[in-house]
Amino acid sequence: GAHDLVIRGARVVTGDTVAEMDIGVRAGRIATLGHDLSGAQVVAAGGLIALPGGIDSHVHISQPSGPGIEMADDFASASAAAICGGTTTIMPFCLPEGDTPLRAAMDAYLARADGVCHADYGVHLIVHRTDAQTLGQDLPALLEDGHTSFKVFMTYAGLALSDRQILDVMAVARRHGAMVMVHAENEDAIEFLRDEAERTGRTAPLHHATTRPVAVEREAVHRATTLAEIAGVPLTIVHVSNGAALDEIRRARARGTRVFAETCPQYLTLTADDLDRSGFEGAKYVCSPPPRDAAEQAACWAGIERGEFELFSSDHCPFRFADAAGKDAPGARASFRNIPNGIPGIETRLPILFSEGVVGGRISLERFAALTAGNHARLYGLTSKGVIAVGADADIVLWDPGARRTIRQADLHHGADYTPWEGFEITGWPVATFLRGVAVMRDGALTGAAPSGRLLHRARPRTVP
Ligand code: URP
Ligand code: ZN
Ligand code: ZN
Ligand code: ZN
Repeated sequence: GAHDLVIRGARVVTGDTVAEMDIGVRAGRIATLGHDLSGAQVVAAGGLIALPGGIDSHVHISQPSGPGIEMADDFASASAAAICGGTTTIMPFCLPEGDTPLRAAMDAYLARADGVCHADYGVHLIVHRTDAQTLGQDLPALLEDGHTSFKVFMTYAGLALSDRQILDVMAVARRHGAMVMVHAENEDAIEFLRDEAERTGRTAPLHHATTRPVAVEREAVHRATTLAEIAGVPLTIVHVSNGAALDEIRRARARGTRVFAETCPQYLTLTADDLDRSGFEGAKYVCSPPPRDAAEQAACWAGIERGEFELFSSDHCPFRFADAAGKDAPGARASFRNIPNGIPGIETRLPILFSEGVVGGRISLERFAALTAGNHARLYGLTSKGVIAVGADADIVLWDPGARRTIRQADLHHGADYTPWEGFEITGWPVATFLRGVAVMRDGALTGAAPSGRLLHRARPRTVP
């Protein structure tokens, strides 16, 4: 029968093939993959590539960041940027402030997205306390409610958990089949190096990187994977930045622990030299873990090429540069310690991987689709998302594989006032985005459709292929 929408003649990246076909959409879902389909609306897509809408399972939006500090994006601006960059589902973090119970924090956080979000969304919890109420009641209730993943930190004062606390949290994950995401950096070691740097006058932005060397990440990855082995749970190591950390993951897998690994554009394209740019410019690149060097970039690329990374996320964590509520926070010029951590990247994630990875000849379109969408859906329980297949949500992005673009802040939709990739040359750009069959972006701009993003009720992670 007729479709609501037919996308005609694109090269379509399905779960297992890339082939020219039509995509027929009915009631927001992919109804037919075939030829000569008819529909009320037909989009001619010859010469374009159709990929599953991106899922960015690691973004920070409106997250409390300390007194006087404010993230540059709310759900409206972050999701507009996501959609314009070909991402149709975003997964930010809910961080309960102070003693706020998890449920109240989650409800307040979800209210911020209600009616203003242009992308579909799921929310991970950040677990930073382990009292009986939190682990015995609140966390299990939220997991049963479809929030089936959470992040724990091994660094940041006020967030970092001890090994015992991480094990207690992992035990909850094991009971409920949830996914634990770990930020792996050794807080004590960082504090030691930071104090020493400040004592000896090494306070410029660069020293954010020199006080978080590869060793603090490598050790923490070893410890996190060991704790997961002891607790008997799968885990995801987020934002892996270097080859030694990846070696630890490889060894843990060889011992039988199910470890999933994420990396991000900054670890493939930026280096610690960017933190050493003149004046205060280096602050634009302060994120944790920090970008490393060319050899570590190559190690991360090798991991992507060999399929050792399942996830490619942005870790979008936007702060304005010329702003006392952002990178120029009180004391930030006196010490890197006071520079808010994080960089914006929600809109540029897919173009960077497409250009450097697919056009650059490092990965196939199928691997691109898995790294940017399919694996996120599998590991975070988004059962209707992440693939172009009959029955799935019609979240589809049309790419012009030959389009030449230069990344410019002026063209982006996020709330930050800069991009770390200013001037970066790209081949291949998303030219249209469909969310559940509705055109939400065309030629780099929102179509004007009312924000229709929905909260996704998530299933358990699928950690066994
Ligand atoms: O520097 C970063 N990545 N900030 C965001 C928070 C986190 O640790 O992911
Ligand atoms: Zn055809
Ligand atoms: Zn982190
Ligand atoms: Zn993050």
